[in-house]
Amino acid sequence: MSEPALLSIRDVSNVYTSRRLGLFGKVEKKPVLKHINLEMQTGEIFGLTGKSGCGKTTLAHCILGLIDYEGEILLNGQKQGKNSNQIQMVFQEPGASLNPAKKIGWLVEEPLVIHKIGGRRERGQMVNEMLARVGLDPSYKTRRVNELSGGQKQRICIARALILQPRLLIADEAISSLDISAGAQILNLFRELHENHALDILFISHNRDAAEYLCDRIVEMRDLNNCQ
Ligand SMILES: Nc1ncnc2c1ncn2[C@@H]1O[C@H](COP(=O)(O)OP(=O)(O)OP(=O)(O)O)[C@@H](O)[C@H]1O
Ligand SMILES: [Mg+2]
Repeated sequence: MSEPALLSIRDVSNVYTSRRLGLFGKVEKKPVLKHINLEMQTGEIFGLTGKSGCGKTTLAHCILGLIDYEGEILLNGQKQGKNSNQIQMVFQEPGASLNPAKKIGWLVEEPLVIHKIGGRRERGQMVNEMLARVGLDPSYKTRRVNELSGGQKQRICIARALILQPRLLIADEAISSLDISAGAQILNLFRELHENHALDILFISHNRDAAEYLCDRIVEMRDLNNCQ
C-alpha cells in the first residue's frame, strides 16, 4: 500500500454558533468551511492563501482540533487527539503568546514541562539546541521578551513549537506583523528548517509573494471553499 498523505482533510465543514445578547437572544449559525478537501504530502511546504474572512485560520484551528467540525482530518493516516505534539502552530503576533514575566530559557522549555518530556538536564540541552536551530545564541536564555525584536520573538515562538518535534508546523500569518527584512529572514529560516530538519510546513498568508517565495505548492482558499 502507498504511504498516506502527511495531512488529509476530507469533506470538512464547520459552523460557528453565537448567541445574540439579551434574554431571548437568538442563536445565530454561521457556516464558514464548506466541504473542504485537501491533501498535503510529506516533504512539502504548502501555501494556503486567500482573502480575509475566507476561513484560513478556522481551517487551521480544525487541524489542531481546537474547534469542532464535520468530516475527517488525518495526519499520516491517523486522527490526532487534542493534546498531540505532532502538529504545532505559530501565529501572527509573536509577543502575544509569550509571558513577559518569564525568561526566554523558561519559555522555550515550558512545552516540555507541560508534556512531561525529559529530565531537567536533558531539557536544558534541548533548549540550547532549539535556540541554535532558530538562529539565537544560548545567551538569550536569560533575557526577557521585552528585550527582543519582533523577528526574535517569532524565533522564540518557532523554538517553542519545534521543541515538541512536530511532524507539521502551521504558520498562520507568521510574518504579517514583521517588517520586510525580519519577515524575509523568517521565511529563510522556514526553508532551512524544511531542508535540514525535515520540517513540513503549512504556510497560511495573505501575502501571495511570500507564499510564492517559500512554498512548493500553493492553494487559494477561494478554490477550496467557494468564498467570494
Ligand atoms: N469564534 C468565532 N465565532 C464566530 N465567527 C467566527 C469565529 N472565528 C471566526 N469567525 C468568522 O469566520 C470567518 C472566517 O474567519 P477566519 O479567521 O477563519 O478567516 P481568515 O481567512 O483566517 O481571515 P484573515 O485572512 O483575516 O486572517 C469570518 O467571517 C469570521 O468572522
Ligand atoms: Mg486568519
